Amino acid sequence: MKKVLIAYFSRTGNTEKMAQFIAEGVRIAGHQADLKPISDIRKAKDLEGYDGFIFGCPTYHRDLTAGMKTFLFIAEKANLWAKIGGAFASYTHSGESGTMLYDTMLHVFKMDMVDLGPLVLKEAVISESDGLKACQEYGKAVGKKFH
Ligand SMILES: Cc1cc2nc3c(=O)[nH]c(=O)nc-3n(C[C@H](O)[C@H](O)[C@H](O)COP(=O)(O)O)c2cc1C
Repeated sequence: MKKVLIAYFSRTGNTEKMAQFIAEGVRIAGHQADLKPISDIRKAKDLEGYDGFIFGCPTYHRDLTAGMKTFLFIAEKANLWAKIGGAFASYTHSGESGTMLYDTMLHVFKMDMVDLGPLVLKEAVISESDGLKACQEYGKAVGKKFH
């Protein structure tokens, strides 16, 4: 059983819901999934001991949040090279943050990212069965990369 950390920022709970559903998918695939808000991660050492990482952040002002940018500088120091990864985001109309996260993990950290690309869901979909299913499938797809 591999260990996956799902680290996310969520101001009003939508991205947190996605994180919980994605964690279910990782567990269905037979792996451990730990959920942490990025405010709980203060230093690179806090990212040690995990085989895979899934990062999530909603889009605010067509951007990642300032806290997520700081978190990515912490993650840079953790050497995530070749670790399995995924990225997710909730949004209402433009939704840039999922791609920003995914691209940073792929091109800067050189992680082994899930082929699906980022999971980017409109906030209204998250509470519907389609949203739950999309998140679970994403978590399963990341988990299957270990097999
Ligand atoms: C002030 C403000 C700015 C926002 N800017 C954007 C934006 O530029 N693009 C977008 O797609 N959604 C934008 N949103 C919508 C959020 O991304 C959306 O509500 C998201 O689900 C919030 O996630 P959270 O509940 O995890 O914080 C904005 C919301 C607020 C309140």
